[in-house]
Order: sequence, then C-alpha cells, then structure tokens
Amino acid sequence: MDLNHGPLDLLLFPMSYEYSEEPFLFPNSSTTTLPHYSTSLLHYSNTVQGKNMRITIANAKGGVGKTTSSIYLAATATARGHEVVLLDADPQGSASQWAFMAENENDPLGFEVQAANPATLRRPQKENVMEIVDAAPTGQGLQAALETADFVIVPSSDSPLDVQQAWSTLSATDKPAAVLLVRVESGTRAMKAVMEAFNRWATPLFDAQIHKRQDIKTSMGHNPKKLWEYAQAWQEIELMMKGE
Ligand SMILES: Nc1ncnc2c1ncn2[C@@H]1O[C@H](COP(=O)(O)OP(=O)(O)OP(=O)(O)O)[C@@H](O)[C@H]1O
Ligand SMILES: [Mg+2]
Repeated sequence: MDLNHGPLDLLLFPMSYEYSEEPFLFPNSSTTTLPHYSTSLLHYSNTVQGKNMRITIANAKGGVGKTTSSIYLAATATARGHEVVLLDADPQGSASQWAFMAENENDPLGFEVQAANPATLRRPQKENVMEIVDAAPTGQGLQAALETADFVIVPSSDSPLDVQQAWSTLSATDKPAAVLLVRVESGTRAMKAVMEAFNRWATPLFDAQIHKRQDIKTSMGHNPKKLWEYAQAWQEIELMMKGE
C-alpha cells in the first residue's frame, strides 16, 4: 500500500494558501495516468448491492471526521430500518467512548458499537447486518478495514492537506470508494478550489456535503437528534445499493 502516491502529489496549492489572492495552480495532467472514476456513486451499483454491507470510513489523516461520520451514518442507517453494528477499529476507541457516554446519559445510541481489530474484521460478516467501520488511521487496522469493505467512504474537509490524504486513501484501496466532504463552509475560495480539483481528477464524490455545524461538533457522547446532510449521503448509498 503506497499512501504517498497518486494525484494528490500533483495538486499544487501555493504555500500562502490561506492568504493568496492568486488563483490556485493545478498541474498539467497530460503526462499523468490516473484512475478514472465516475463522480456518481451509481457508477458502483453493479458491485455494491444488498443488505449485507460493510461500509468502512477511512482516512489516513487524523481529525477529519471519521468517528463523527461513522456515528451519524450508523444513526441514519438505523433510522432507515437497517440493523446496524458500528465496528470501532480505531485503537483510540472514540466511537466506543461515544456510545459509553450516551449510555451514561440514559439516551443510548440506537445501534451496537463493538470494538474490532484486524482479526475480528476478517471474520465472516453476520447476515442482514449493516456494518459501519470506524477505521484505524494507519497500519494493519487500516489495511484490514479497507480489504474487508464493500464500500469505502473517505471523509475530508476542504483543507488541501485533508484532500491530499483523501486521495492517498482512495488510491490505497481497490474497493468502490468515494469522498464525503465534511465540515464544509460553502462559498469559500478553499471550497471552490477543492471542487475544481475533485472535478479535474474525476474523484468519486458524494453529492451530499456535511456542513460545519456546532450541533455536530457538540454531539460527541450524545445520541444524535438531527442527522443533517448525513441523511442525504445515506440516500445516495441506498440508491447505489439498489442500483437505481
Ligand atoms: N460537520 C461538522 N461540523 C463541525 N465540527 C465537526 C463536524 N464533523 C466533525 N467535527 C469535529 O471535528 C473534530 C474531528 O472529528 P472526528 O473526531 O470525528 O475525526 P476523526 O477523523 O475520527 O479523528 P481521529 O483521527 O482523532 O480519530 C471533532 O471535534 C468533531 O466534533
Ligand atoms: Mg476518530
């Protein structure tokens, strides 16, 4: 697995990224061979179908919204009637901690959160269970979570470093995969540049974008009450699974 190779090395953001008034510079792609993705999840509908799915939430970068996205997507899938198990494969155990805190508040999450490691991830999946994996950021934990996934979601903010790591993570898996933009602030120059880069490299991307919200930020340890744009993201997953 080579996490340092891919279109991301080629996306050149100026060092003065935050402050520059200059347009962002993108390289000439003519000499570069890149995987060509559809930007729609429907592209995957022949390979990703059925109720028995394992969706891995992964990004080799820390603090990008993996655990938050895992919890919210698990809550959304539960609300949509799936039996969901969240497999906490990150040794930090943040998803397990989240579940524990919610239980202590007498408002438990509506799905089970189980600790997982590379060995347990490689066991056969239960029938009719939707598994969401909060992947480890590196090593065997990440490898096993990617290898055993039916579909990989790579959460990323619009920060250039996050986007570069998102591409790295995409290039580390041969499974159907797509970037989910999180903590989005619409209409910013950063967002515009990132969308241009994703288009340019035909990066598979959810149409749904998760906005930066205090409600989401402060939801750690609570049973989420509002699902926000995760509901739209889940709808895209369902359409992909049905092949519509
Ligand atoms: N949509 C959002 N709006 C505002 N804050 C958010 C949003 N999504 C996530 N955050 C915040 O971003 C921070 C990082 O999120 P999270 O812990 O889910 O990332 P992570 O990738 O799991 O991190 P780690 O690498 O430590 O496991 C947290 O403080 C979380 O509350
Ligand atoms: Mg986490």
